[in-house]
Amino acid sequence: MARENNSDESPENPGLEKQDYSGTSASSLFKNGEGLSYSDFTILDTSFTDIDKEDISFEANLGKGIVLKTPIIAAPMDTVTNSDLCIAIALEGGIGVIHYNHKKENGERDFDEQIREIERVKRFENGFIEDPITVSPNHTIQEVLRIGMENKVGNSVIDTFPVTEDGSPHGKLVGLLRKQDYSRSSHLSMTVSERMIPLSKLIHGKKPITLKEANALLWEEHLLYLPIVNEKGNLASLVTRSDLDKNEQYPLATKDDKKRLRVLFAVDTRFDRTPEMLERAFAAGADGVVVDTSQGYTKYAEKMLMFIAEEYPNKLLMGGNISTGQAAMHLHDLHVVDCFRAGQGSGSICTTAGTIGVSRASASGIYSCAQQLADEGSKMRTIADGGIKEAGDIVKALAVGADAVMLGNILAGTDESPGNIKINPRTGLPYKDYRGMGSAEANVGGIRGYGKMPQGVSGKVEYKGSIHKWVPLIRDAMISGFHALNCRNIQELHLKLRSGKLRFEKRASGAFKESGINVEM
Ligand code: IMP
Repeated sequence: MARENNSDESPENPGLEKQDYSGTSASSLFKNGEGLSYSDFTILDTSFTDIDKEDISFEANLGKGIVLKTPIIAAPMDTVTNSDLCIAIALEGGIGVIHYNHKKENGERDFDEQIREIERVKRFENGFIEDPITVSPNHTIQEVLRIGMENKVGNSVIDTFPVTEDGSPHGKLVGLLRKQDYSRSSHLSMTVSERMIPLSKLIHGKKPITLKEANALLWEEHLLYLPIVNEKGNLASLVTRSDLDKNEQYPLATKDDKKRLRVLFAVDTRFDRTPEMLERAFAAGADGVVVDTSQGYTKYAEKMLMFIAEEYPNKLLMGGNISTGQAAMHLHDLHVVDCFRAGQGSGSICTTAGTIGVSRASASGIYSCAQQLADEGSKMRTIADGGIKEAGDIVKALAVGADAVMLGNILAGTDESPGNIKINPRTGLPYKDYRGMGSAEANVGGIRGYGKMPQGVSGKVEYKGSIHKWVPLIRDAMISGFHALNCRNIQELHLKLRSGKLRFEKRASGAFKESGINVEM
């Protein structure tokens, strides 16, 4: 029979919390002011499970109509979230925040690149590639190979090219050069015109054409690529089967009402370039903005949030970082913030706690913010940011009140994150670089309001393969966690949290050790 022992009160001693075998509620776990991180506690299996794993969904409504099916947000960090990662995480049901630390070769900040990154995400899956990489009939195959290498999409080299008369993206279409039309061993010195399918033999689409019609033509004609021309015969776009397949392959994808992937971007609290960046980013199709500062409970953050809300009332607005109930209520009282990042000093690359002495343990911060808001009936959403090391930490973050999580470390080191895979000479294992935005290496322009003293470090994270392998694994672990807790969704989890039915246990050092790996690896 299903039994839940959920009262905090002892039947023998009303008023006193029971000292029994069913752990403690969140309110008593966090009661005594001790800072708790995810590894300091566990959630107990006190609920009889009568739901099926297929019933579980993780829908998280961030506000302004942005609903994630995977409650994961990629942090605005320059070793995590570029357009490739944003595309991958959005396909998996999350969303990414394009960071604002792009640099030109001379080290100056490159404002244009942030906009280009947003454009890349918005262009990705609308089906029509508006500016495909093109070549001219006079290019040699050797030159084409170089162009393909220089213009990778994610980790894939481009190997198929519409051919235009002058080689420009919207020049007159004269043919198509596909991967099967040339060989590295025998055609290197031949020209494109000698190997391409000429226009006379090329099946192509003509504007106006809908994505559905283009798709039908691809199937009908057994094609992988369909160049589309305008009324003058100039190349307008390219439709590829692989893009269309992605629609079917990624049913969780986070999309806007035009079926484009959603993306957020970060701005700082300074007014010098931010208004211009907001205008350009929203014109490029960005779905919302994160005011990215390590101290979100300040007049600077408030001013920027109010400015953005006034100018762009329909766009998602994310505040933070904060970690106390007071700060959460302050953001709530502005009545313009949809969601905020809870976490100060808990990031894996973060040295804030030691450097400035003001911080908070991850779980305590999330619980305080989320609970204070729940007590006041606020609908502002809490995003747990920093310190999440494994999938179980995501379940714990949601269990103490978060609506979604923001990840840096866990997403760094994937195929889609910026930077090359390197081999650690000590271990022989592959890794990628991961650095704090307040590290000396990243903080060249005073990113996120950090001072001159670094508040972050630069390090290595193990190489994890593709987001498309990694995030489904994380989801799988989360499903097992929710199943054990008999919760079908985050709302049910929060109801249990607030009624005291969700039971926790603090871990002593032996328990912590025991729950890790205890065999030689
Ligand atoms: P992680 O997932 O534990 O690595 O934490 C990522 C989070 O750390 C980000 O979303 C930021 O809130 C925070 N963060 C990023 N860079 C720094 C830094 O240099 N110092 C302190 N916190 C940082």
